[in-house]
Amino acid sequence: MLDYDLEAAHYDETRGGVARAGAAADAVLELLPADCAVLVDVACGTGIVSELLTAPGRTVIGVDPAAAMLALAQPRLGGGGHVVRGDATQLPLATGSVDAVTFMWLLHLVDEALVASAIAEAARALRPGGMMITTVDKNAAQYETDSDVGEILRPARRELAPPASDDVERVRELAATVGLKPAGLAGYVGHGQGRPPREWARRVREDITWTRGADPARVAEICRALEALPGQEVRRADPVYKVAGFRLGGK
Ligand SMILES: C[S@@+](CC[C@H](N)C(=O)[O-])C[C@H]1O[C@@H](n2cnc3c(N)ncnc32)[C@H](O)[C@@H]1O
Repeated sequence: MLDYDLEAAHYDETRGGVARAGAAADAVLELLPADCAVLVDVACGTGIVSELLTAPGRTVIGVDPAAAMLALAQPRLGGGGHVVRGDATQLPLATGSVDAVTFMWLLHLVDEALVASAIAEAARALRPGGMMITTVDKNAAQYETDSDVGEILRPARRELAPPASDDVERVRELAATVGLKPAGLAGYVGHGQGRPPREWARRVREDITWTRGADPARVAEICRALEALPGQEVRRADPVYKVAGFRLGGK
């Protein structure tokens, strides 16, 4: 995982800024009951999404282990909440004390054991009827775009990548073991996250974890296909990310 204390200064500008955060918050708000009074945004980062989840009569608590990210989140939450340094697997919260727990762009970053612990911890902190809302299938979204790049990368990733820690089916299974039942799915556009073919070819060659152990001839073939596309510098469609809601004790 990246060192988010080092990422903090550039995080917002390199992750789609307020356009991405606004779309993400709208997806959460689509699933969140309007009367939610206490929401814990776990892995709040710079608070760019958390800030947009505040509302009159609602306290938003941002939790994150990276002090530099929290330093940016604190002023954003202002009167609508506060931040606490902490970990998704050990929330500094009483059992059954909150109405909602959100994980925005966390579960894809951590291993499967941590995903299971984080979901169990969310269920512990939630009151009966409370909601857990999380991004799922995050990395898949970049490859599932409706574009010529997507047509090359979608099957390549399915062929070469290991199962994702935030795979929606797996998250559903883990949630069920702690009494969290599916309660809706929403999507949001990752503004500014679509990339041009030339950049994708570079990433496939140098950056992407699922091509690192692959047959070099297969990787070269994927890169050649990307580099043969027209509009090498033209950004393709932004990905659409998924957000899943779960209710504690729901039907
Ligand atoms: C990709 S950022 C997402 C930030 C924010 N939710 C957003 O959507 O902009 C991932 C965040 O997860 C935090 N993080 C990493 N491991 C964590 C853990 N075990 N528990 C809670 N947060 C964690 C990082 O410090 C970082 O701020």
